[in-house]
Amino acid sequence: MHLPSRTAWSLLLPLISLGAVANAADSGIIEVDLLFPRNETYAPTEWMPFVFSIRNGELSKHLNPFLDYRGWNTSDLGDGGFDHTFDNIKWANWSGQDPYFVYHFRNDLQTEGTWWLDWEYFFLSCKEDYTKQWGSGKPVFLNSTSRRITFTIKEGGQAVDLVAATANDKTCSDQNIAAINITGKTGYAPGAPRELPDEICAVVGSPEPAATPCQVKVDSAVAASMTASLRAKLCDPLRTLNPPADCPEDSAAQRLAVAGVVCLAAAAGVIGFLA
Ligand SMILES: *[C@@H]1O[C@H](CO)[C@@H](O)[C@H](O)[C@H]1NC(C)=O
Ligand SMILES: *[C@@H]1O[C@H](CO)[C@@H](O)[C@H](O)[C@H]1NC(C)=O
Ligand SMILES: *[C@@H]1O[C@H](CO)[C@@H](O)[C@H](O)[C@H]1NC(C)=O
Ligand SMILES: *[C@@H]1O[C@H](CO)[C@@H](O)[C@H](O)[C@H]1NC(C)=O
Ligand SMILES: *[C@@H]1O[C@H](CO)[C@@H](O)[C@H](O)[C@H]1NC(C)=O
Repeated sequence: MHLPSRTAWSLLLPLISLGAVANAADSGIIEVDLLFPRNETYAPTEWMPFVFSIRNGELSKHLNPFLDYRGWNTSDLGDGGFDHTFDNIKWANWSGQDPYFVYHFRNDLQTEGTWWLDWEYFFLSCKEDYTKQWGSGKPVFLNSTSRRITFTIKEGGQAVDLVAATANDKTCSDQNIAAINITGKTGYAPGAPRELPDEICAVVGSPEPAATPCQVKVDSAVAASMTASLRAKLCDPLRTLNPPADCPEDSAAQRLAVAGVVCLAAAAGVIGFLA
């Protein structure tokens, strides 16, 4: 085993005492990736997936984060676009789920078109001296990272396949990733806004750190659990008026199937959010 020399130790010591202030467990880089769609052309599909991943998600527990996207028809940039907000991520159980997949399917993208997809990750943060500052000026900031990619739906485009699409690490740009540098957290902050119920606020470094996109893959087990949760939703009589013909008929069997999906989703480290 290689031990650091005395000189190395003396260099390390100041770092260790700094670490006591910014606890290692409270600092690090959160990465949010848009995994799908990418800057590509896809064949029309009944249920189009929108898939993000969050790495180091447990660092976001004091950020009150949410994630949203909006699609714009590039031909008219009109009101006819589409959007979705994932606000559930603020209540996520990150335990054992890194990366954490955030996804959603939509069935209103079956006609040809080219879309701008704007996506944004919102978070709260505070200055380090938050408690001292309280009552003087604005202590809590709402910041967001904004990104835009373009994708096309066209007959003859590639089939929608999450495993194949995310296996390719050449189809992303800096518009597919956002990184948040958590440097610490504030202590007890009396009178914190209701968005920070435990009255602790994250401290976020700027500028935004550089990050490498296209690193997170969706493997076939994760893709299958996403499809299964879509199917469970489509077959749930409480959520769907016209279930597909091949849903299990018996409602007890159906409940079992849903429970199975939940277990599979948990095992694969996936939580889905459906339309
Ligand atoms: C998207 O793909 C098109 C066609 O392959 C290419 O010309 C363009 O530069 C790409 N844009 C980005 C942001 O990667
Ligand atoms: C979070 O998930 C872990 C692992 O699956 C589980 O043990 C724990 O009970 C969960 N926590 C909550 C609050 O649900
Ligand atoms: C996009 O806008 C153009 C121009 O208004 C329209 O003809 C086309 O149908 C729209 N595409 C989609 C997929 O809505
Ligand atoms: C958040 O917004 C505030 C106010 O605009 C700005 O001063 C701060 O640098 C931003 N923080 C980050 C991490 O972007
Ligand atoms: C994160 O922020 C801290 C404090 O501003 C800085 O020292 C560190 O280099 C930043 N990390 C990255 C990866 O940018």
